[in-house]
Amino acid sequence: MTNRSRRKRLAVVASGLVGLAFVVAGCGPANGQNSLLPKGTQAKEINNLIVPIFGVAIVVAILVGVATVYCAVRFRARPGINDRPRQVHGNPPLEIAWTLIPAVILAVIAVPTVSLIFKLNEAPKPNALEVTAVGKQWWWQFDYKDQGVKTVVVADEFHVPVGRQVHMTLTGCDPSLGTTPPTGDCNVIHSFWVPELNGKRDVIPGHLNTTTFTADKPGTYLGQCAEYCGLSHANMRFRVIAQSESDFQAWLAGQHEGPAITIEQAGEGGKLFAQKYACTNCHAAEDSSVSSYGPNLTHLASRSTFASGYYKLTRANLVDWIYNAPSMIPMESKDCRLPVGQGICVGMPSFSQNTPAGQPTMTRAEAETIADYLLQLK
Ligand code: CUA
Repeated sequence: MTNRSRRKRLAVVASGLVGLAFVVAGCGPANGQNSLLPKGTQAKEINNLIVPIFGVAIVVAILVGVATVYCAVRFRARPGINDRPRQVHGNPPLEIAWTLIPAVILAVIAVPTVSLIFKLNEAPKPNALEVTAVGKQWWWQFDYKDQGVKTVVVADEFHVPVGRQVHMTLTGCDPSLGTTPPTGDCNVIHSFWVPELNGKRDVIPGHLNTTTFTADKPGTYLGQCAEYCGLSHANMRFRVIAQSESDFQAWLAGQHEGPAITIEQAGEGGKLFAQKYACTNCHAAEDSSVSSYGPNLTHLASRSTFASGYYKLTRANLVDWIYNAPSMIPMESKDCRLPVGQGICVGMPSFSQNTPAGQPTMTRAEAETIADYLLQLK
């Protein structure tokens, strides 16, 4: 081998190792989204099914791999030997055996698999907490109801009590905003997935799906939209915050309250928010029990993240977002400041770029004033 081809081969091996390191780092065991490290009742049952099936799969893989390598070596072409192998027409006992064995393995695996599918779809327990998740482009709204009446609406993060079953209703439509375009809020298919708590479940416009989960321990569990839904699909995250029943009830009562500061009380920030930039066209900020096209902000400052859990809720991040949100996650929101129905509007527009005729362009100081108002909404 020449020096050059040796160097080439070394470079290939080195870049392969670097690539592998990245892959392994991404798949680290404690990444908060590892379904093989289950933290909830349902996720544990799924894991208990996967592990033995994976064991069977490894045995099959080894047997097939060894047989393939053995045959490739044992029957390889050799100089001086006729390269045309003997022509045969199968061996009935062998044919029957290798058809039957996989069929039996699959049939055996199907028994616990199908029974778990039914078990995971059992009716919720009587004391289950009812929460509706509404998939939007690209964020999640979570509605709490009391006797069928919507009481608390939050975005991006929702709280649940530890040890109590949570029964989720999943929908791609928000009927309280109407369902007919262009103003209706019925969009595309999403998928609700908290890997450490349960498997995926599709979130479909015009069809209600349900799922349950029970968090075993207090903590923050990371969720992710798992169905491609457009530009910011990968950024469509959410958090489940599990806490003791009493902490949960205290949180819920707090979310139930009115805003810590009204738009009126917010002075300049309130005027910029409600009048000059018409943020109230898409965001509710004074009533935590109503849906809005964008996230309900009545208790924004009680959350740790915003923008579907993609950004930490800090003043600097929030100012950047108010000023020019499409520069922070991909959206199709260039036309969002045009009158309803004109152009394509998905997401939050930039208030500092692409200003339509007759509309004001935001300064950074104004974005700071609005952020300072919003950060008071504990
Ligand atoms: Cu929502 Cu992907």
